[in-house]
Amino acid sequence: MDPASYQPTRQSGNPTEPSMGRIEFEPRNYRPLNPPERVLMAPGPSNLPPAVLQAMSAPLLGYFDPEYFKIMDEVMDLLRYVFQTKNQVTFSVPATGGAGMEAALVNVIEPGDNVVVGVTGFFAGRMVEIAKRCGAKVFPVTTEWGKAIDLEEMQKALETHKPKVVATVHGETSTGVEQPVAEIGRMVRDAGAYMVLDTVASLGGPQVKVDEWLVDVCYSGSQKCLSAPPGLAPITFSDRAVQMIRSRKTPVQSWYFDITMHERYWIDPRVYHHTGPALMVFALREALRLVYEEGLEARERRHQVTSDALVAGLTAMGLKMFADPAHRLSSVTSVWIPDGVDDMKIRRGLLNKFNIEITGGLGDFKGKMWRIGLMGYSCKASNVLLFLAALETLLRAEGVSVPSGIQAAGEIITKA
Ligand SMILES: Cc1ncc(COP(=O)(O)O)c(C=O)c1O
Repeated sequence: MDPASYQPTRQSGNPTEPSMGRIEFEPRNYRPLNPPERVLMAPGPSNLPPAVLQAMSAPLLGYFDPEYFKIMDEVMDLLRYVFQTKNQVTFSVPATGGAGMEAALVNVIEPGDNVVVGVTGFFAGRMVEIAKRCGAKVFPVTTEWGKAIDLEEMQKALETHKPKVVATVHGETSTGVEQPVAEIGRMVRDAGAYMVLDTVASLGGPQVKVDEWLVDVCYSGSQKCLSAPPGLAPITFSDRAVQMIRSRKTPVQSWYFDITMHERYWIDPRVYHHTGPALMVFALREALRLVYEEGLEARERRHQVTSDALVAGLTAMGLKMFADPAHRLSSVTSVWIPDGVDDMKIRRGLLNKFNIEITGGLGDFKGKMWRIGLMGYSCKASNVLLFLAALETLLRAEGVSVPSGIQAAGEIITKA
């Protein structure tokens, strides 16, 4: 049917006045869905590889189909590979990265527990809020945005508060900083506490070594460096964390996120907990297969080289980086907006004229910082060159004379 001649078969649109108990809708002409193709360079979501998109048009399977169970088993294996863990309890929770955070914290925290949170930006601030809602006594170890956690401050907090749980974020998306997680993991284990780690902005890009870093609970999101659509939260629990959860004095505050029930669906005895979101799980399975094919080291190198090229290009243009160079996260680059430049004008130009999405600063840094994601399938040299060319063009159109950054970026890419 010609979409232009389509007429809805029933009344639809904005509700107007109810009459005789029926809601009237103004007629509207709903055309077939046709979103624009963007170059997704915000810190998530990233663009989807064709294999992942294709997986979402595979035939749907029921949540108890033996063929679906086989795919779930593969997803668990592949997640153990990307998390670099032998943990049995490793699967995905059917909601976004924030649900991974919630699931991690509600399972390990009981009311009255002492919890230390390493806060280096917006997302660790959210951990504080969730831990408080779990009834914990929360002790943030706060660092200025743009810097990594101060290890001495963390050690002091461990000695003073003797926490049961320590939580922090590996790649802080709001600042573009990567935390020294290996060191923190050792300190936390020596203090006899359980370590919770957010890897929403890193898993599938910079490596995440759950077992080597002594992390007890680690979660992520499907939509960033893994390049699956948003909507799943991969998560893994160490055996010692699972034992602790099984011996809780109080039930997990959230029925839906009680991990022992997810375990009974994903692993054994495979009883119903929720309707498995099969197409999303297929997409994640394909995204993980692509990570496996590329290899974790090669993938980490690709993220590093591509973001080095971006930083070289921006620096050559005279822009200043936000994150401490000693702890720069390869998947998210944060850069100060040059004085006098209107954040939204440039970002609107990038989107409307060049189809490129980046994002701005959060909290106090709104209007002052841009954040550029190079994640998973979006992390490629061609995106860096396109973005630099677009940014230069838009800045010059605003009367800001900047040198070109393309040569500097190109040199890093060709040398690698
Ligand atoms: C580090 C970090 N944690 C948690 C989240 C929340 O993830 P979601 O938006 O998928 O719920 C994000 C989202 O950007 C994030 O970057």
